[in-house]
Amino acid sequence: MRLVLVGPPGAGKGTQAEFVAAHLSVPKISTGDIFRSNVTQGTPLGVEAKRYMDAGELVPDEVTINMVRDRLAEPDASEGFLLDGFPRTTPQAAALDKLLADLGTALDLVLELVVDDDEVIRRLSGRRTCRGCGKIWHVEFDATTRPDICDRCGAELFQRDDDKPETIATRLREYSEKTAPLVDYYGAQGKLVGIDATGPVEDVTTRAIDALRSYG
Ligand code: AP5
Ligand code: ZN
Repeated sequence: MRLVLVGPPGAGKGTQAEFVAAHLSVPKISTGDIFRSNVTQGTPLGVEAKRYMDAGELVPDEVTINMVRDRLAEPDASEGFLLDGFPRTTPQAAALDKLLADLGTALDLVLELVVDDDEVIRRLSGRRTCRGCGKIWHVEFDATTRPDICDRCGAELFQRDDDKPETIATRLREYSEKTAPLVDYYGAQGKLVGIDATGPVEDVTTRAIDALRSYG
């Protein structure tokens, strides 16, 4: 299955992507994770992306599209994938459609995680991520036994640089200006399914998997 997860920053895309990709046995491809790993490694792509990420702005389309094109060409993505955080603009969505059409295929479904701004702010301001295994935690909603240590692998937790209040505000603005129009774009293609992304993580996963079942 070829699936896209869309939703505002902090909607729970990364959290759900892990479960849904495992359920579908497809690779999870997160553009945010790929950018962050390039930033950590200090690659030229990371140096360029960091300027935008720190400001809460989107990385330019051309850079992002080229990166995704390379990733989708890897063998593990040939039978299906779950994209988390891409596309984020109408030009990115059009480029993805073209890329898949050139390969003789197309997206199956776009799952929209629906959650309001107040909940997003609560989620982002308490998010912690593991440096070792990448698991996403929350100081209140999914707390670890010790505040700075991952219960799963024992590595250190960190707070993302772009989870500061002023950067969160810019990210939400970028979302409503540039990404929210994708709801109409995919709605017009008949590929969009929205699910309520509030409540416990497991309930959201159940709703996501039910949505895939009824459309799959
Ligand atoms: P990216 O990493 O994609 O960030 P984002 O879209 O802002 O999404 P987040 O990762 O912040 O949130 P999420 O929805 O994954 O939520 P999570 O599961 O962590 O992008 C970062 C930056 O990279 C962008 O700003 C941009 O600069 C650049 N970039 C990336 N893709 C790009 C693209 N295509 N084009 C251009 N630029 C791009 O959950 C959040 C918190 O909530 C966690 O603490 C979690 O534990 C908690 N939580 C999750 N679910 C629940 C629940 N049901 N109840 C309570 N808490 C919950
Ligand atoms: Zn860990």
